[in-house]
Amino acid sequence: MPSLADRSPPILLLLLLLLLLLLLLFFSAASAWKKDEFRNCEQTPFCKRARGRKPHSIPSLSAADVSLSDGAVSARLLPSQPLRQATAGDDPESDRDPPRPLLLRLSVYPGGVLRLQIDEDPSAPRRRFQVPDVLLPDLDNRRLWLPRLSSPAAGSSSSFYLADGFEAVLIHDPFEIQVRWKGSGEPVLSLNSHGLFDFEQLRAKKNDDEDWEERFRGHTDTRPHGPQSISFDVSFHSADFVYGIPEHASSSLSLRPTSGPGVEHSEPYRLFNLDVFEYVADSPFGLYGAIPFMLSHGAGSSSGFFWLNAAEMQIDVLAPGWDDPAAPAKGRIDTLWMSEAGVVDAFFFVGPEPKDVLRQYTGITGTPAMPQEFAVAYHQCRWNYRDEQDVAAVDAGFDEHDIPYDVLWLDIEHTDGKRYFTWDRVLFPNPKEMQEKLAAKGRHMVTIVDPHIKRDDSFYIHKEATERGYYVKDATGKDFDGWCWAGSSSYGDVLNPKVREWWAEKFSFQNYVGSTPTLYIWNDMNEPSVFNIPEITMPRDAIHYGDVEHRELHNAYGYYFHMATSNGLLKRGNGKDRPFVLSRAFFAGSQRYGTVWTGDNSANWDQLRASVPMILTLGLTGLSFSGADVGGFFGNPEPELLVRWYQLGAYYPFFRAHAHQDTKRREPWLFG
Ligand code: NOJ
Repeated sequence: MPSLADRSPPILLLLLLLLLLLLLLFFSAASAWKKDEFRNCEQTPFCKRARGRKPHSIPSLSAADVSLSDGAVSARLLPSQPLRQATAGDDPESDRDPPRPLLLRLSVYPGGVLRLQIDEDPSAPRRRFQVPDVLLPDLDNRRLWLPRLSSPAAGSSSSFYLADGFEAVLIHDPFEIQVRWKGSGEPVLSLNSHGLFDFEQLRAKKNDDEDWEERFRGHTDTRPHGPQSISFDVSFHSADFVYGIPEHASSSLSLRPTSGPGVEHSEPYRLFNLDVFEYVADSPFGLYGAIPFMLSHGAGSSSGFFWLNAAEMQIDVLAPGWDDPAAPAKGRIDTLWMSEAGVVDAFFFVGPEPKDVLRQYTGITGTPAMPQEFAVAYHQCRWNYRDEQDVAAVDAGFDEHDIPYDVLWLDIEHTDGKRYFTWDRVLFPNPKEMQEKLAAKGRHMVTIVDPHIKRDDSFYIHKEATERGYYVKDATGKDFDGWCWAGSSSYGDVLNPKVREWWAEKFSFQNYVGSTPTLYIWNDMNEPSVFNIPEITMPRDAIHYGDVEHRELHNAYGYYFHMATSNGLLKRGNGKDRPFVLSRAFFAGSQRYGTVWTGDNSANWDQLRASVPMILTLGLTGLSFSGADVGGFFGNPEPELLVRWYQLGAYYPFFRAHAHQDTKRREPWLFG
């Protein structure tokens, strides 16, 4: 019988071609960024709703009972007029109960900083989350005591001193905040000038059928407390450019418009700490860290705005004419800020020079920790240096080729089965001796410590955390159990100061067996990364210390973990040795605890280019000590790319070569 090939060679060829095509498709899909695995604004109800609103289309609020109390301005926000139908979006916003008054407070700090706080009144069913431990602890003591509040005869606004040359104004109805130059009255910054302020108050379910749950890729977020988002517009006057709000991969330092005339199908900038596999070089999607701080710059001056809120945030930069295409604003940039939960705790920085804006921001969130000298030198990393022989050979290679380097890094494979604070006994039998050999040449070592703790009853850290109730809980109250490098894992509840103290103790020389004074730490996967949950992170309805939902603090989880580790190293050295801790996730204030890097980039020219605005943006938002994986984490750089990357990397504040375990070895002398 003739074979299939004999009968119809073209069919076989076609079949083979089809198979090849399918294989190609499979591999490119398996290795590329998977956009569908992450929520976009349309799939995120609070974002979709806020983005769908037109200026002044929602019931406005007015400021009542405006007065000075305890040296700050206080007021109540009430509906300006009886509720009318909401006009935009497909959400039944008009169903809402008449809102309870919101409490507003405006306070002033030295150097040109205005703080706006808006929260529900104490009769709300639950306390909304205010992010602790980010603002400098002495901030309250530095508050300026406001002696006077000026109101014109008509009582339509109240103004007060903000800094020499600047005043703050609370316009009463509809309420609006303005920061102005005192003499000319020209605005610098304003909030709610376009009537987009919306605050979803916590409430009881209207009836049992009301569905508060949200679903994404087969996972249900129970949302037991219902919708609680906040959104508002902020305008930067006399601004030609805006910058900041890391972390996003971009080839541009200034933030491009995301909505309005000339912008098609664009997403807002998303701030949601995520472990993104093979991120693309130009995208507003969220990456590992979040700093909700934006700076503006224009011919006249610079200013800044910071919203201390750790829930998922989405921010639109609106193209001129977004509100009125016939009259596009000149020299003003409008933005829309949307967050899933929390409160309004926002700061306006008057500038007027860029360096003033930075000084004002770091005046409230802290300046970068002073790094040790070795930390600003060259670091050699790879996933993974296999064993002690490999470490010795790499170290010797640098000497042999007369290439200076100060720090050698060990990734996850050095541990005993991804139980951090342990060593693989076969591959690293003499960790102390290994570190001492490096130290004898003035070199240091860094080991990785991730936040997921292997659920293994014989692992003492897991045992202690379980017995003491130190893990984050799932929505049912059990220890949250997720999947990461270690397999089934739980995560320390680092919002709890006690858990942070306990974690810090783990870095003592006695507890971290095999560590020496020249060993420092790398915190990875602390967004936190959870492989088996949609968007590769902890479910939003997981529960933290003080009954805080994960959704409320998500973007700060990695910050608290970084803080605990950094404090651990400080304790270990009796406060004398400056810590060095690299963290992948970050939040406002992370600069006080160490350095960050831009995560899993790829070995290509686009990513080399994007690393520059990414690192500069981190610097503009306080995190001046940062870097990108030199050479690109994924893939194999050709020699020209690697050479150029080293040339550029020498100017990164944090200069480290790193590579994925599937890449070819690339110690610098291997390239001729
Ligand atoms: C992800 C990190 O971004 C990468 O740098 C590291 O090598 C791997 N995790 C393994 O630990």
